[in-house]
Amino acid sequence: MTLSLLIVITQVITIVSILSIGLGLQYPDDIVAHVVRLSCDQPREPQSYKSALAVGAHPLALPDHPIVIRGLVHEYTDRGEPLRVLDGVSFAVRRGEFLTIIGPSGCGKTTLLNILAGLLKPSKAEMVAVEGRPVTGPNPDKVALVFQDSGLLYWRTARANVEFGLEIRGEPKGQRAYLSEEYLRLVGLEGFADKYPSQLSGGMKQRVALARALVLETPILLMDEPFGALDEQTRLLMSEELLRICSDGKRTVVLVTHSLQEAALLSDRIIVLTSRPAVIRGTIEPDSLRPRGGDSVEKIREGLWAALRDETAKSDRLGAGT
Ligand SMILES: Nc1ncnc2c1ncn2[C@@H]1O[C@H](COP(=O)(O)OP(=O)(O)OP(=O)(O)O)[C@@H](O)[C@H]1O
Ligand SMILES: [Mg+2]
Repeated sequence: MTLSLLIVITQVITIVSILSIGLGLQYPDDIVAHVVRLSCDQPREPQSYKSALAVGAHPLALPDHPIVIRGLVHEYTDRGEPLRVLDGVSFAVRRGEFLTIIGPSGCGKTTLLNILAGLLKPSKAEMVAVEGRPVTGPNPDKVALVFQDSGLLYWRTARANVEFGLEIRGEPKGQRAYLSEEYLRLVGLEGFADKYPSQLSGGMKQRVALARALVLETPILLMDEPFGALDEQTRLLMSEELLRICSDGKRTVVLVTHSLQEAALLSDRIIVLTSRPAVIRGTIEPDSLRPRGGDSVEKIREGLWAALRDETAKSDRLGAGT
């Protein structure tokens, strides 16, 4: 009983925090200062970023790159000792791009997404910017996050789970009902709106979680292993659905996954992280268009595995996730 209560409280706090309230985190004052100190001679700068600087525009004004991360470092404290997880990660995401991040277990992928979502304060960063502004907390108008577990509220129906964020946002009842129906239909659950999570299969719960994020219609969607708990067949079906839903190019998506197949099927670009402390090992930009056929998926998978193999072995030696 006490455990269930604790789980419920944790879920509510997590969801409320990302949707609107935030956790009152203090961000380093120097993020903004750093933004102004950026220079053009940094490696891997997107071309448009250089152009923005060249014409003297505000360095965060990157309409074609709604996510910019530079020099991101994060350390936790583990038994009194610093545990460095991210060791200077820099990348930018183009508008409408489907970017996948892949890396060994425990290398810091969830940490990275939580920082982007404004749920975690980075230890140090030259810049973490979303839609041209430094991230200083959750930004529910711009960013939605699908958690590593579905995180549904078990006392609410599928419909009420999807409407939760809209309620917090203060959307009128009629609009909430319209939108929740629309998005439940989009994820193929129109007949299940009145079911409770306990009456749904694992795949259905993940779909509700996806609808709950999509319904906010944010320009940025962050997904942390959204299909991790599913069997391979359901996972493939869900990937296809996600591809269909995101094919309008309206959303910029950052997906974290362990699945090479999912990464190869879905991504415009794939960033491979090293084992902890993570830096970017490499980037794969498939030249084939989606939806991809078997041969090109296989080629991308091989490339990914070649990049990941050593890192995964290293991570196993480190003790993944510890
Ligand atoms: N709050 C915390 N305090 C201390 N260490 C933490 C904390 N959160 C995560 N870690 C550690 O930081 C490292 C990175 O964790 P993170 O959850 O970001 O990894 P991940 O790449 O998402 O792993 P997985 O692929 O298994 O989900 C792990 O070693 C983890 O044990
Ligand atoms: Mg994780």
